[in-house]
Amino acid sequence: MDRYGSLRLSLLVAIGGAACSASPPAPSGAGDGAVVAIPTSPASATAEPPPDGEPEPEKPKGVGWVAEKNGNVHRASRVTCDATIDIPACAGTERHQSCKTDADCTEHPHGKCTSGVGQVGTYCGCTYSCETDDDCGAGKACVCKGTGALRARHSVCGDASCSTDADCGAGSCGLSTYFNGCFEQVTLACRTKEDSCKSDADCGSTPRPGGACVAIGPKGAKPTWQCASMSCVIGRPLVVEGEARAARPRDRADWRAPLVFDVGHLVADAREAIAAHHAAIAAMEHASIASFARFSLQLLALGAPAELLAEAQNAARDEVEHARVEYAVASRIGGRTIGPDKLPEATARLATDVVSFVESLVVEGCVGETLGAAEGQEVARSVKDEGLRAALARIAEDEARHAALAWKTLQWALDAFGDEAREAAARAFERARAMHEKDPPKMPVENEEFGVLGARMLGALRREALREVVEPCVRKLGLVAWS
Ligand SMILES: [Fe+2]
Ligand SMILES: [Fe+2]
Repeated sequence: MDRYGSLRLSLLVAIGGAACSASPPAPSGAGDGAVVAIPTSPASATAEPPPDGEPEPEKPKGVGWVAEKNGNVHRASRVTCDATIDIPACAGTERHQSCKTDADCTEHPHGKCTSGVGQVGTYCGCTYSCETDDDCGAGKACVCKGTGALRARHSVCGDASCSTDADCGAGSCGLSTYFNGCFEQVTLACRTKEDSCKSDADCGSTPRPGGACVAIGPKGAKPTWQCASMSCVIGRPLVVEGEARAARPRDRADWRAPLVFDVGHLVADAREAIAAHHAAIAAMEHASIASFARFSLQLLALGAPAELLAEAQNAARDEVEHARVEYAVASRIGGRTIGPDKLPEATARLATDVVSFVESLVVEGCVGETLGAAEGQEVARSVKDEGLRAALARIAEDEARHAALAWKTLQWALDAFGDEAREAAARAFERARAMHEKDPPKMPVENEEFGVLGARMLGALRREALREVVEPCVRKLGLVAWS
């Protein structure tokens, strides 16, 4: 079933390619511009690979996990990790419980039934640790807790294309811990002289805020070390220093759209969890107002045409309405008034260099808004109440228009700025695809009737929208042929 056919068509029309189909892949000449393959060693604005003939760096020495002065960590030899998990055990009083005791956690070794607080309330779920690589299986390595910048409060199994420095010739087997905003990607990969960055210092606050030098790459291929600063957020987030920002909720009634629907059949626990989910979405919609205001300023700074400016201004107005609808939904379901607190990050420093602009346009606009529109369609389809369904369907329609604006803007930027923009866009699309290969974190509750889709369904629909909508548009722009 081609459920995203009309979304794909509207985006292809925006970039002048309505005749393209979702599959099979278009020939390389389908785009208006030259096809630029994803660089295997992408250029970085701040770190150039050393020229051929330069001597290899001296191989680092040490035992076990070795921290270098520049913050890099590499694995000189295998070690046994502490498998204890510093997360409280499930108390049994949590609202949602997918396990009750450690005996329920048998999928991998060293399982513990832990207690957590998610976006929608308290829950119990299985957490797994490791002692050695053998606990992790083929192609993975056990990364000890407390190593480098690892966020997890326990040892974790990470993808490993090397196991120790001995696998990396003259280079080292580096530890990459990349938190993309949704989950932490832990990877072991060889550092080589072809890498586009050597350490986080190469990805500093200018021009890419919050950047980190991490090992990422397409599934099945060896990862390469490159600067990354994107956040895993669907829709147009307000990203400051690499992280999505949003206002905290507070008790106020002036951000609610007039929306009434029946919630009488929901039990109190479910009401609270679903209200928290919609309050979080409302805060993201509210932050999108700032994001579009900042986008307008970037367009002005880069000399964009009037049409793009007008549409960006209209999109910011749409986001005001989206926030009002979502705060109304959260308030109605939660049985109290919920609105946004202050958002000081709205005026944070703004990057206007071409590479930063194109990277954030691809991730937040072309991918984020397109997946947001696809997700919005599914949410609206599953909601039962007619009034609520109509309000959410309008949001999905607006998001499809915002996605079209992002694609049109990218087309303009590719024409205006040439190879610099094309290479930045190709890299950003590849990273965005890698980011959505995994499902988002599990939600403690699922309630399609009130617009809370499950993590597995969300992951599947995002991948389908990437394949059926984003990919044809990427091909149309002649950026890269995804396989
Ligand atoms: Fe929105
Ligand atoms: Fe939007």
